[in-house]
Amino acid sequence: MIPSNAAPNHPNTNLLRTGILLLVGILLFGIYGVVAHGLEGKPEYETNQDYIEECGACHLAYAPDLLPVESWQQIMLGLEDHFGDNAELDQETSDILQTYLETHGLSRGRASKMSRLLRGVPSPPPMRITELPAFLNMHYSVPQQLGVTDLKEGYLSPCADCHRQAAEGIYDAERLHPGYGPANWGGEPSQSD
Ligand code: HEC
Ligand code: HEC
Repeated sequence: MIPSNAAPNHPNTNLLRTGILLLVGILLFGIYGVVAHGLEGKPEYETNQDYIEECGACHLAYAPDLLPVESWQQIMLGLEDHFGDNAELDQETSDILQTYLETHGLSRGRASKMSRLLRGVPSPPPMRITELPAFLNMHYSVPQQLGVTDLKEGYLSPCADCHRQAAEGIYDAERLHPGYGPANWGGEPSQSD
């Protein structure tokens, strides 16, 4: 007697084929997902794991090319009173982060995707990205768009509230969250990133 599943067009064989095709499909979809995610998740600036862990603990780990080197130096000098918080580090970690920020921070004569943030920077430069004149110019229309008359200090600090790829250092106006703003936040900007 011929085993039932050996018959050429037996229902069981078809079921098996369908099953295999489905599995292959799921597998390909999975691989595509991983690749697509990998591509989208790759930051467009030189990252440092210590920096992401230490300086990303309370807010977005701001990419080094968002502030002039001198601003980073001032920040690193005052970590025990960092915008009202204590963000002190041991000397070894502090040295590693300082070198990282000095190597990749904004500096005149060093080409960077974010060089335009250096435009009109006073001396000494501010310690906040959100106080750089070029930053304020880029966000000139935001209060009006959001219907806010007066932006509180720190209002624009959680970049990722509006820029969905902020963690990757991508701030193109086309990559904002759809309908960025209070509708997105439920009224208040988040404090965490
Ligand atoms: C203990 C929490 C904490 C840690 C750790 C921390 N920060 Fe902050 N950081 C803050 C707070 C709070 C503010 C002010 C946020 C506000 O005004 O909404 C801030 C603001 C900033 C800003 C200004 C953002 C703006 O408005 O433009 C920069 C730049 C910054 N931090 C860099 C760093 C760096 C670099 C490190 C690591 C050495 C670090 N932070 C670690 C709490 C922290
Ligand atoms: C409340 C929402 C909001 C927050 C928070 C915010 N931005 Fe923006 N940002 C915008 C909008 C909207 C634009 C586009 C403005 C325009 O072109 O009309 C923009 C534009 C920019 C641009 C210029 C993009 C381009 O294509 O030219 C940069 C760079 C930028 N933001 C960086 C930042 C950084 C860094 C932070 C955090 C420190 C931040 N933004 C926080 C809303 C925001």
